[in-house]
Amino acid sequence: MPPLLFAQTFAEHLLAEVAHLDFGDDVFGRTAGNWIAGGPHAMESALQSMRDKGTTTWLYRLGDASILGFGSLGPANWRIDNRRQEIVIIPHLGIQVQFQGGPAGVPSHGKYSRLLLRDLIARARAFDIEKRPFLGLYVHESNHKARDLYEKMGFVPIGQLNDEGYQRMLLKLVNPGGASLV
Ligand SMILES: CC(C)(COP(=O)(O)OP(=O)(O)OC[C@H]1O[C@@H](n2cnc3c(N)ncnc32)[C@H](O)[C@@H]1OP(=O)(O)O)[C@@H](O)C(=O)NCCC(=O)NCCS
Repeated sequence: MPPLLFAQTFAEHLLAEVAHLDFGDDVFGRTAGNWIAGGPHAMESALQSMRDKGTTTWLYRLGDASILGFGSLGPANWRIDNRRQEIVIIPHLGIQVQFQGGPAGVPSHGKYSRLLLRDLIARARAFDIEKRPFLGLYVHESNHKARDLYEKMGFVPIGQLNDEGYQRMLLKLVNPGGASLV
């Protein structure tokens, strides 16, 4: 049986609990840690993004209440194929370093990373699928694990890398017949 994840909407009263989460020592891990732990006045943080951009963030907990990681969703307007499109984006997500690659011994589709992303995709579908039929995100070209993960979940790159080396990726949330693709 795959492990169960419990999603809890993130809010200011949970800041103390996320102050010392560890997403890894590289730049992507540190950025994830700063994003979730930053207060409402940090330059770029979950709370700031919730306040200013309409983002919702969830903490994902395991059965013993330990924090696996977090995921987030928010509205955005992207230029896709030369037209403006309302979409849902994943502003940020992360899995604590001790759980990355886990749980041990399960096939890829049962890994924590897949469970977390599948939950975010399901929530994105519930957002307003008629108006926002795509889920988008930015991933840095050198963040190979994240990029692999997104590709394996069906996201496809769109456009060129931006000046900072970030690639936009997009997942279509419904097919033309209206059925789910993932
Ligand atoms: C990105 C993140 C959520 C991925 O979760 P994870 O549990 O580490 O990833 P997974 O073990 O599921 O690996 C996903 C894929 O990356 C690749 N991969 C895994 N370990 C790898 C490694 N050491 N080197 C290169 N590629 C690797 C594999 O293709 C793997 O797919 P598989 O499970 O089918 O083999 C996690 O690493 C994380 O939180 N990183 C820090 C924050 C971050 O980068 N957030 C994303 C910002 S866009």
